[in-house]
Amino acid sequence: MMKGRRVAPMILEGLKRLEYRGYDSCGEATVHEGRLYVKKGVGEIDKVHAELRLDDLPGEIGVGHTRWATHGAPTKENAHPHTDCEGKIAVVHNGIIENFLELRKELEARGHIFKSKTDTEVVPHLIEEFMREGLGFVEAVIEAVRRLKGSFALAIIHTDFEGMVCVKMESPLVLGIGRDGIYVASDIPAFLPYTNVVVQLEDGDVAIIRPGGFEVLNFLTGKWVKRKPRVIDWTADMAQKEGYPHFMLKEIHEQPKCLRNTLRLDKRYLTMMADLLCSAQEAFMVACGTSYHACLAASYAMSKLAKKAVHPVIASEFIENYGAFVGPRSVLLAVSQSGETADTLEAVEHARRRGATILGITNVLGSKLTRVAKVYVCQQSGPEIGVAATKTYTAQLSVLSQLAILMAERRGKIGHVEAEELWKWIHALPDMAEEVIRATEKDVIKLADEHASVEKFAFVSSGVNLATALEGRLKLLEIAYAPSIATSRLDGILTDCLGDGSVAIFVFPSSGSARKELLDEAGMARDKGLKVIALAQEGDEEAKEVSDELLVLPVPPEMPEVLTPLPFILPLQMFAYYVSVKRGLNPDKPRNLAKSVTVK
Ligand code: AGP
Repeated sequence: MMKGRRVAPMILEGLKRLEYRGYDSCGEATVHEGRLYVKKGVGEIDKVHAELRLDDLPGEIGVGHTRWATHGAPTKENAHPHTDCEGKIAVVHNGIIENFLELRKELEARGHIFKSKTDTEVVPHLIEEFMREGLGFVEAVIEAVRRLKGSFALAIIHTDFEGMVCVKMESPLVLGIGRDGIYVASDIPAFLPYTNVVVQLEDGDVAIIRPGGFEVLNFLTGKWVKRKPRVIDWTADMAQKEGYPHFMLKEIHEQPKCLRNTLRLDKRYLTMMADLLCSAQEAFMVACGTSYHACLAASYAMSKLAKKAVHPVIASEFIENYGAFVGPRSVLLAVSQSGETADTLEAVEHARRRGATILGITNVLGSKLTRVAKVYVCQQSGPEIGVAATKTYTAQLSVLSQLAILMAERRGKIGHVEAEELWKWIHALPDMAEEVIRATEKDVIKLADEHASVEKFAFVSSGVNLATALEGRLKLLEIAYAPSIATSRLDGILTDCLGDGSVAIFVFPSSGSARKELLDEAGMARDKGLKVIALAQEGDEEAKEVSDELLVLPVPPEMPEVLTPLPFILPLQMFAYYVSVKRGLNPDKPRNLAKSVTVK
């Protein structure tokens, strides 16, 4: 909001500065002389701007948005801003509104006409509804957000309001206090060229911005609050990474938030998937790299909990190994962060042509995988900029574990007490991840510093945590270029080949059938001159005895083993990151690796 200056060109520039986060569509809305002006389209900002001239909207108040789809494919209708029936209110939103379906039904029953498939569109209609009932704009916003469940950072304008109302709940939102106006953004880089005075809003805050300044009411407590401005000295590059030195580290720390998002998924689609997998004659999970490791871990959970074999297959091997007999009674669940990985899509295409049912789990709504899958689930991790997958891996683990539990329930393989217990652990994962990162990061830095110059590494674990060993090894290989192996058995030959001075990292869950063998192997490896680093759960005295260095994760020993890959991978992601940094490398941009990008 600017005094005496058209805001549309500034919003356009601000959106471009957020483009590094990924986008699939964008748009702007402004208010001028009691009218709302809206432009939006699909694709990168320059393309949409070339088609629509986003910067020529009139007015001193406006909002803009680049979208990373969470509900509804990337189309013009689904692009933000979203408006009410009368075209007086415009809303941009980051986050996920969990109860949007029930709100939409309620609003449609009251005559509201929806134009998009997004969760966001309920917001302008809900505000409109409260205004129809007689509330003023600000009061209607407050009543509306009280009805929302989920995460939301909202910026809202109204044709008859000289200003803007913003709301923050579990999604980031900051104000920038400039000399000529007030800026609002989900990320500081959007307005950094204009001001470095920022106000960080807190959950429940409703910021009411008017020409003279702003005031904040917290809708959770109902109280007016003061939020102090602070001056930041970040460069644009630092601001993009929210102060972290690399995107990878930022994304490692984002994992608790991303895991919370996986608990907000629409269970209907996961249940449909569970039913289709359960009734398949043969079921496969197909993926590459990190996504394959998530499938490998999930296959154990599906076997153990649901007693159903869902074969994890590296996508490039699928056609050769199973292509000849996959058919109408087969189900193929493709797991791909990008939804665009060529080998995965090739396997999908082959199976689809032969009549198999295709399911998908991806992070990119609108990707090819979402277009070919009969049922898909979006894991809601937000854009992952670091090339090495971190937050998308743990989100995949969470989604797949939920699927395994649903399969077990649908097949009647677990009783309600066991099911409740498992769901309790699933819901505990975000806080547990936060605690594991907090409690182990310092020790991991120390371990990485001490071992960054080691030449060869082995990652050892068995059962479901073979996936953890493989993924820990992949991270170190990808970003620190460390020759390393991952194995479920560190036998004498391997130990001899690795030789004196190599490091063996053992992942020891508190339970597991091969635990005794692993403990023996760790002891043997140590006797032969390897340095043994052990990752273990609380109270694991045996792991302490066989290791040189012990990293204890704040994870209770009674956690079901099939869920332990999630907490155990976190220190290994950090280990790879800090070894890479210590070696003077850039973990965000490893040699010879690029991320699949989806830009339509
Ligand atoms: C992981 O760190 C890598 N970026 C890579 O192995 C990746 O997991 C693989 O290419 C699969 O990508 P997808 O999940 O987008 O299909």
